[in-house]
Amino acid sequence: MIETGLAGKVVIVTGGAAGIGRATALRFASEGARVAAWDVDSEAAEALIGEIEKGGGEGHFATVDVAQASQVEAAVAALIDRWGQIDVLVNNAGILRDSQLVKWKDGEVVSTMTDEAFDAVIGVNLKGVFLCARAVAPHMIRAGSGAILNASSVVGLYGNFGQTNYAATKAAVINMTRSWSRELGRFNIRVNAVAPGFIATEILKSMPQKILDGMVQHTPLHRMGTPEEIAEVYLWLASDAASYVSGTVISVDGGLVVGT
Ligand SMILES: NC(=O)c1ccc[n+]([C@@H]2O[C@H](COP(=O)([O-])OP(=O)(O)OC[C@H]3O[C@@H](n4cnc5c(N)ncnc54)[C@H](O)[C@@H]3O)[C@@H](O)[C@H]2O)c1
Repeated sequence: MIETGLAGKVVIVTGGAAGIGRATALRFASEGARVAAWDVDSEAAEALIGEIEKGGGEGHFATVDVAQASQVEAAVAALIDRWGQIDVLVNNAGILRDSQLVKWKDGEVVSTMTDEAFDAVIGVNLKGVFLCARAVAPHMIRAGSGAILNASSVVGLYGNFGQTNYAATKAAVINMTRSWSRELGRFNIRVNAVAPGFIATEILKSMPQKILDGMVQHTPLHRMGTPEEIAEVYLWLASDAASYVSGTVISVDGGLVVGT
């Protein structure tokens, strides 16, 4: 059996306060990794770190908006001061601001996707991934190893009604993943993406129940996924068991892609 090799490693999980990020932070900690959870929502921080420590792990929380270069760079510098290395980056933070490109009713435009909605999603889901990878990569290059994992989505592969902004970022993340795997492979840094299907977290609360029910119907496994099921794949991708895996996108969607 191949060991995960994650004990003592330093892992950043962005968006670590809730949902998939929280489950991922806890899963890495359970393997003995030192986990830095970054999030704009600091309310859950104490509970998360408490839970990590209860399980015998080591965790640290920092308030970081991944869309702000200065905050990301300061957080990386603080983490290097604290733990001296960064081995894994899980670029998980993400937001939705759904609306149709043009909502049309009775011969008229009812609404359009606003500039604010477009820019906010690009800022977090795309630029945030870029900023975190750019800040972390030099430390991995110096160390001669690392793993960068990026949150894509099933909608990054197939598009989605009402998600112009979100689907664009999740598709773009796939090509950043491929580009970085080409650029960083020579430094023994692996870069991969995960494309979750519909996972039961807060992020889906803004989506109409009718749409979610339809998705479950189209999913061969006939249910939504859990955050823990995504965390497990991040863990595997970061581990020594995936030592020859780079530049790929793993769908974790209950078969949704083939079901549609
Ligand atoms: N839940 C799903 O069905 C699903 C499907 C496909 C992809 N994803 C992706 O997985 C990732 C996690 O999703 P989730 O469902 O756990 O979402 P969530 O809303 O439950 O959690 C997202 C976390 O990111 C944090 N966050 C938001 N903006 C941030 C910022 N600027 N800087 C730092 N942190 C920020 C939030 O505070 C929150 O804690 C996202 O990238 C999402 O797009 C989720």
